[in-house]
Amino acid sequence: MMEKTKEAGATRVEGEAPGFVPMNLALGRGVDIGTANLVCAARALDGETIVRAQRNAFMDIVSNPFTKNMLTKLDVHYVVSDGTLCVLGDPAFEFANIFNRNMRRPMKNGFISPDEINALPMIKILVESVVGRPRESGEVCYFSIPAEPIDMEMNVVYHKGIFEGILRHLGYAPRAMIEGHAVVFSELADEDFTGIGISCGGGLFNVCVCYKTVPAISFSISRGGDWIDENVARVTGIPVSRATFIKERGVDLTSPRNRVEEAIAIYYRNLITYTLDVLKHEFSQSRSLPTFPEPVVIACSGGTTMIKGFTEVFREEFDGSDFPLDVRDIRRAADPLTSVARGLLVASISEK
Ligand SMILES: Nc1ncnc2c1ncn2[C@@H]1O[C@H](COP(=O)(O)OP(=O)(O)OP(=O)(O)O)[C@@H](O)[C@H]1O
Ligand SMILES: [Mg+2]
Repeated sequence: MMEKTKEAGATRVEGEAPGFVPMNLALGRGVDIGTANLVCAARALDGETIVRAQRNAFMDIVSNPFTKNMLTKLDVHYVVSDGTLCVLGDPAFEFANIFNRNMRRPMKNGFISPDEINALPMIKILVESVVGRPRESGEVCYFSIPAEPIDMEMNVVYHKGIFEGILRHLGYAPRAMIEGHAVVFSELADEDFTGIGISCGGGLFNVCVCYKTVPAISFSISRGGDWIDENVARVTGIPVSRATFIKERGVDLTSPRNRVEEAIAIYYRNLITYTLDVLKHEFSQSRSLPTFPEPVVIACSGGTTMIKGFTEVFREEFDGSDFPLDVRDIRRAADPLTSVARGLLVASISEK
């Protein structure tokens, strides 16, 4: 049976969630495989949803006999690959900022990166560290995949196959779900899983138009938070990581205070307009667009919605867009970074 209400209990987000022990969890997991973050949601036996997250990144560091001891002592996750020591997940972000280097990232624009030779072994370890072992063999685990991008040639089949293999190897029965569909599962339960879910991530925007859980139109756009950061860096002459830092530190899109913030606001607005234009175009092309009996809700989720003023700018651009569908509300997920993983968990549990 499909769950109509959101999951019981509060969500707890932790790097190394101590409750994340198979024995303490109900069956079924949801794992959001994102360009920026890997997030796994599970249900504790008392009904609480537990979420475990890691940056989808690693960084090689110079190894000497002291480094390994120190990292072990500090409980920093690392591996040695071909004689190189690699720090994984959240610590890679910290190290990169301290040493003023860029992190290495296994994924780009929503897919396994063709430019990173160590992408596969690293992502395998990272996925294992957030998902953990199943409580029983063959436990269902839903994972997110991007919808086919409208503006880039990407191989969804390969990407999906790799993660099916990783999860199966861990003992799960893997099930792929399009990311926008997972947003509908987590955010539009009160709307009978009808409406438009948009996941605004680091590498992509994923859109899914759904009627009573059934996706009618889904696509992705190969632009997201990374695209904003790269463009801001280019036009203001600062490093990309600096642009990310300034953006995440707290910018109000409706009142930028300096040149960099101004650039951030310009690219954000451009990305939102572009997304609405593509949606309109796909609507006009599609023969599978349902005739919704009532005005629908647009639910936005993902890290890129976390900036102040996101919903206001989205509403402004929507109002000027002559949108071909009646929309009654545009809202942002209560917890944008974990919403996809929680939607995938709902799907996992509903399957039983
Ligand atoms: N407070 C914030 N303000 C603005 N942007 C933020 C904030 N926090 C995180 N982000 C951005 O959110 C993005 C990551 O979001 P998310 O974790 O949803 O992406 P992802 O799921 O890993 O990627 P994708 O779905 O595109 O593959 C990054 O671009 C990051 O810079
Ligand atoms: Mg995502």
